[in-house]
Amino acid sequence: MGGAVASVAGRGQTIEQVDFALVGHQESWKAVADVLAVLRGPKHAPLPDDEIKDILPWIPPRAVCHVEVRSVVNAKTGGAKARGLYIDSFIPPDRLEAAYVRENLARVRGAAACAIKAGAKIASLGGFSSILIEGNFDQLPERHNTVFTTGNTLTVGFIVQGVKKMCALEDRNIGRATLLIVGATGDVGSGCARCLAPIVKRVLLSARNLERLRRLAAELEADGVQVEVATDLRQFSVEADIVICAASLASSSLLLGRVAPHAIVCDAGYPKNLSPSAEMPGARIFYGGLGQITGGLSFAPDFHGILNRHPFPDVVHGCLLEGMALALEGRFEPFSQGRGFITQERVEEIVAVATKHGIYLAPLYNADGPVEDKIDCQTEWVEGMSGEAKAPLGAML
Ligand SMILES: NC(=O)c1ccc[n+]([C@@H]2O[C@H](COP(=O)([O-])OP(=O)(O)OC[C@H]3O[C@@H](n4cnc5c(N)ncnc54)[C@H](OP(=O)(O)O)[C@@H]3O)[C@@H](O)[C@H]2O)c1
Repeated sequence: MGGAVASVAGRGQTIEQVDFALVGHQESWKAVADVLAVLRGPKHAPLPDDEIKDILPWIPPRAVCHVEVRSVVNAKTGGAKARGLYIDSFIPPDRLEAAYVRENLARVRGAAACAIKAGAKIASLGGFSSILIEGNFDQLPERHNTVFTTGNTLTVGFIVQGVKKMCALEDRNIGRATLLIVGATGDVGSGCARCLAPIVKRVLLSARNLERLRRLAAELEADGVQVEVATDLRQFSVEADIVICAASLASSSLLLGRVAPHAIVCDAGYPKNLSPSAEMPGARIFYGGLGQITGGLSFAPDFHGILNRHPFPDVVHGCLLEGMALALEGRFEPFSQGRGFITQERVEEIVAVATKHGIYLAPLYNADGPVEDKIDCQTEWVEGMSGEAKAPLGAML
């Protein structure tokens, strides 16, 4: 197995400076095949799909490429650069269920050990890596000088910005909206609830554990928010016109059922929450939690479009961007840890760090492509995010 897929270190490249490490795993078998094809190099024929499925569970976590991220050049940033590694935990895309928790935790621990060994100053945990670890930071190996962040605070920032931007694009009054959050008690879901509940009319919270839902509802109600909770989406008394899907589903299986016909739906799951068979012809669906690096992003070997499979350049998940933004800022601290501690203040703080370095909300898109076909407000939006100009579409956070 060791000879089949080379790691970055195995290619004889020297790792001189590792400011950050990004720990991730692939969402689909196609993505896994593409990663393995680059690692094997152009001289080797791509592995057949059935062979990939057979060997992936035997590939240990390893660094697969160098990553360099650059700030926008201005007086505040001085054109900062940070260097790091992408480490794939190689969790098979069809093994995210609870039955594989021990195996996957071992993989994330292995990936974390790679980050520590490489001397990364900060490591961001992407996708299920953070779900497995966020309640179990004590399960990480002896950390030496590496700090870990789930990256969930910046993710929440981009989800909230995306929802507000979509409301503006669709000319919807967010103050009159009923917001449904699926996976509401999770780290991402509860952070979104704290940021958006104060500005919508009513909040509907859904997850499987009713006790945790009631605790979150009580917290929001104490601030005067109208809240309903339900473990079954059909139990809510009203339809939602904005939906955030942030449940930790092992596969894209969510059927929303009863939401307003023209609901704005943000799918922030990794893997995506919404089932491909969900029929919502009038809904405005977009993928949430994504940011775009405008200063520059490079991979060696070149994994552009393979590690970040989006229809726009240099778009990366918020969870990974948080570590990169903190590295550019020289703030090597475990910004997001644990579950349920994300507040609006912390979101504003990390969004300000990202914005300073030219990392903004990514253009909105879904399975059918870009969704910003009505008005192109990206330039205005970016100016608004910089804090140097008043946001044209209303306050972001
Ligand atoms: N876009 C990005 O950059 C980004 C970044 C970070 C995370 N994410 C994704 O966001 C999602 C949430 O992450 P997280 O860190 O918040 O996870 P988390 O803290 O584990 O929370 C998961 C939430 O989903 C609920 N849930 C789990 N299974 C469910 C089911 N079958 N039906 C309904 N609710 C269910 C959980 O509550 P119960 O257990 O009570 O059901 C909980 O409320 C994941 O898909 C993750 O990969 C995306």
